[in-house]
Amino acid sequence: MAHLLMQMRHRMPPAAPVPKLIDPARLTPFVDPLPIPEIAVPATSRSVAGSSRRVPVYRLPMQEISAKVHRDLPPTRFWAFGSGVPGPTLNVRSGESFIVQWPNELPTRHFLPIDHHLMGAEKNKPAVRTVVHLHGGRVPPESDGYPENWYTPGKSASVHYPNEQESALLWYHDHTMGINRLNVYAGLMGLCIIRDAHEEALDLPAGKYEIPLVLLDRMLTADAQLYYPVSIRPEAPWTPEVFGNMVLANGKLLPFLNVEPRLYRLRILNGSNARFLRLKFASGPSMHQIGSDQGLMERPVESRVLTLAPGERADVLVDFSGGAGEEMVLLNDTVRILQFRVERAGESKNQSIHTIPQKIRPVPRIPESAAIRTRVLTLEELDDVLDEPDVHLLNGARWHDPVTEKPLLDSTEIWSLVNLTDDTHPIHLHLVRFQILDRRPFDVPRYLERKEIHYTGDTFPPEPGEMGWKDTVRATPAAVTRIIARFEGYTGRYVWHCHLLEHEDNEMMRPFEVLPAASS
Ligand code: C2O
Ligand code: CU
Ligand code: CU
Repeated sequence: MAHLLMQMRHRMPPAAPVPKLIDPARLTPFVDPLPIPEIAVPATSRSVAGSSRRVPVYRLPMQEISAKVHRDLPPTRFWAFGSGVPGPTLNVRSGESFIVQWPNELPTRHFLPIDHHLMGAEKNKPAVRTVVHLHGGRVPPESDGYPENWYTPGKSASVHYPNEQESALLWYHDHTMGINRLNVYAGLMGLCIIRDAHEEALDLPAGKYEIPLVLLDRMLTADAQLYYPVSIRPEAPWTPEVFGNMVLANGKLLPFLNVEPRLYRLRILNGSNARFLRLKFASGPSMHQIGSDQGLMERPVESRVLTLAPGERADVLVDFSGGAGEEMVLLNDTVRILQFRVERAGESKNQSIHTIPQKIRPVPRIPESAAIRTRVLTLEELDDVLDEPDVHLLNGARWHDPVTEKPLLDSTEIWSLVNLTDDTHPIHLHLVRFQILDRRPFDVPRYLERKEIHYTGDTFPPEPGEMGWKDTVRATPAAVTRIIARFEGYTGRYVWHCHLLEHEDNEMMRPFEVLPAASS
């Protein structure tokens, strides 16, 4: 299966010459402390219909900021929620709804290269537009940040989040049609942590022992400004995937964190546009994954390497107690990201013994027989004539084609993602949480010729770390990846898409619509 799980890439279309970039290997590593994003504080509260308590109202303005990613670099311009990348963390309790005001206070000119050929980014559209999506949130359609519901600088949106879901690490980010990849690259993202009683009863490391970790790759020009690569066509600058030469951790390049020799909980997000992360420690502790995208898993999974596609999250316990006095470096493959400096034993007064729970939370498998329908959906890449950008499509359709995926409310469906490309596409569905059933290799040329799926091997079960609730799945190349979901919560219009943001912005996103159960 290893070959199927790899991110394969056969060819890249020509890109314009890259300016001189900052080489992270030439900077002094581990001189900046890892910043921990501040916890958002409600600006006010409001009574809402149907709730006896007053609902907290947060205000997270989108602003242009400048921030230093490294001690020895000049400040970098970002677009951020509040004053940092990532923005403030929404720390909320399951069952307690909240409101967020998302004012767009950005300048009216974009500083990254807009491609006006892309759907939704035509020349007649304002350059700077935003709309915020809470990734992983089960919310009504009007709160979901539909890509076309963007607004311009000077405008705001006040969004209600019912928050009827289990504890999990969610994230909020821009979702604007046609320029989502640029707005997110500019820095428009932050975390949302949902807590619940079940999680609290587990007595997991908390407070300063719980570390949110937003990882994202970027490129910086020689004067430390964000560089977003472009194609050789000045009128059509889109490129199929963007990979930075450095990975920032909570907005810093090569930071360090002082830790005690004890158990820690890391809440990790891959917020990159297109880079898959393969996280590991150079030496020392292994990671015990206890949660996936949509919350806690049934049992811990010990791993040396943690793979995270863009959009995926992991909840991980790391035991530093064996490393007192040592320094342990978190790597992406061989590239350094973050140094943990473990205090000597005895330095800390507070050595409470936390253990890794062996039974975390039941995650009953959804039986395939619960599905009333299977949708076979292709992931394809169209290679246009020279000088035209490639396009990636979901089931051969474009954004503006009629809606074809219309599940009934409270029904369960299997979606079979038939990947005809050489890439792994992290496919994300809004609204629902799902489970991964399996992956199975098939004969792509034969499919292209006769439109029939001929399997070339056995099915592979999900990886152990994928056995929990998910909202983003790695659909591997030349394989059929099957997921099963119950479409609960709300009726109305949502989207599903590839979370490689360059693909998403170029037609690899489709609406789906949950219909009331009676309207079959
Ligand atoms: Cu994280 Cu539709 O997005
Ligand atoms: Cu989402
Ligand atoms: Cu994709």
